[in-house]
Amino acid sequence: MENTTKSSRIGGFHKLGIAQRVAAVAAFAGLDEGDQAHLLNTGNLPAETADHLIENFVGTMNIPVGIATNMKIDGRDRLIPMATEESSVVAAVCNAARQCYDSGGFITSMSGSLMIAQIQLVDVPDPQHARIEILERRDRIRELCDACDPLLVRHGGGFRDLEVRVIQTAGGVMVITHLVVDTRDAMGANAVNTMAEKIAPMIAGWTNGRSNLRILSNLADRRLARARCVWRTADIGGEAVRDGMLSAYHFADADPYRAATHNKGVMNGIDAVVLATGNDTRAVEAGAHAYAARHGHYGSLTRWETTTSGDLAGVIEVPMAVGLIGGATKLHPTAKMALKILDVQSADELARIIAAVGLAQNFSAIKALATTGIQKGHMALHSQNIAMMAGAVGDEIDTLARLLVEKGSVRLDLAQAELTRLRAG
Ligand code: MEV
Repeated sequence: MENTTKSSRIGGFHKLGIAQRVAAVAAFAGLDEGDQAHLLNTGNLPAETADHLIENFVGTMNIPVGIATNMKIDGRDRLIPMATEESSVVAAVCNAARQCYDSGGFITSMSGSLMIAQIQLVDVPDPQHARIEILERRDRIRELCDACDPLLVRHGGGFRDLEVRVIQTAGGVMVITHLVVDTRDAMGANAVNTMAEKIAPMIAGWTNGRSNLRILSNLADRRLARARCVWRTADIGGEAVRDGMLSAYHFADADPYRAATHNKGVMNGIDAVVLATGNDTRAVEAGAHAYAARHGHYGSLTRWETTTSGDLAGVIEVPMAVGLIGGATKLHPTAKMALKILDVQSADELARIIAAVGLAQNFSAIKALATTGIQKGHMALHSQNIAMMAGAVGDEIDTLARLLVEKGSVRLDLAQAELTRLRAG
């Protein structure tokens, strides 16, 4: 029977010290001393830093960071740190990059670093009139926005544009104001949210409406990172491989069920760099998927075609709201290290690299899927996880993993049996 004496109502939990919080969780969940020591070992993220990043902090979750090699972006070789728990993700980027290294690698660009903050006005008596009244006050709105963040303005950012739309909703007519703000090297959420909160009461007053939400839009479609690349057909296994990959792309772009998986693969690469650099993976995910559905049909984030010379060309265009300042980027020691390895000087440069990684990831996924299937490569890597789960340590891990692949069956029960046999000599 369920133990009903336990209560999750722990008053003042946030005021406890870290060790006291861990002790309280241990009492609730029956954690022993070893479990508590595990939580309190925060590795290379100091507990005091982590405690300031989130609320009710009790431990860290380490994710492996791997380096994608072979990447040449805009003529420059880069090593790319990727944080992911999924096997094959780092290898996929290395492989894709190796196959286009000699033909020039990736070329990237960016549409700008503009973010949008939305202000929702409801109960507006004359919505069309109100729209124009807000637009008339563009200069005043610019002044107010820029006054919110003089540092951003000093760095070349600040208010750029004003858009007002009247939309019909199930809850009635709404007047939606967009503040378009150049956030430069910041992801920009704090900057634009502050501006929206400042402006909202004023535009509500000017229009006799009532302001409700004041928040950025994660559909960062004025902050698109773009990458393109050509893979020589001869370097990727010939025309049949190229055509299989094109067909995979056509499938994804036509069918949302496939597009979701195709884009998941793209995001395997993108998220791993976003996470490694301490940026907001959820913001980038939300933007990417909303962008993939912008025409009212959920399609592919990448596009593939044959060049006039018969080679395979891939492009990606994806919202990329990442920054170099603010949040975990500047605080997390591993994120700082990742940025040092990348040696990027601006958020724009980071965003473009991330787009190239997304395209590389997609290349490898559709190539594997259109040829041998992903299980062969995946299982070779996954066999190491299974070997460790079976209890293998040290050299046993590789030996057992190889054995499982040779046997063509990467299963835990088999791994356990083989480990027992190995140990018995
Ligand atoms: C697995 O994490 C990602 C893939 O499913 C992507 C794809 O299907 O394109 C292999």
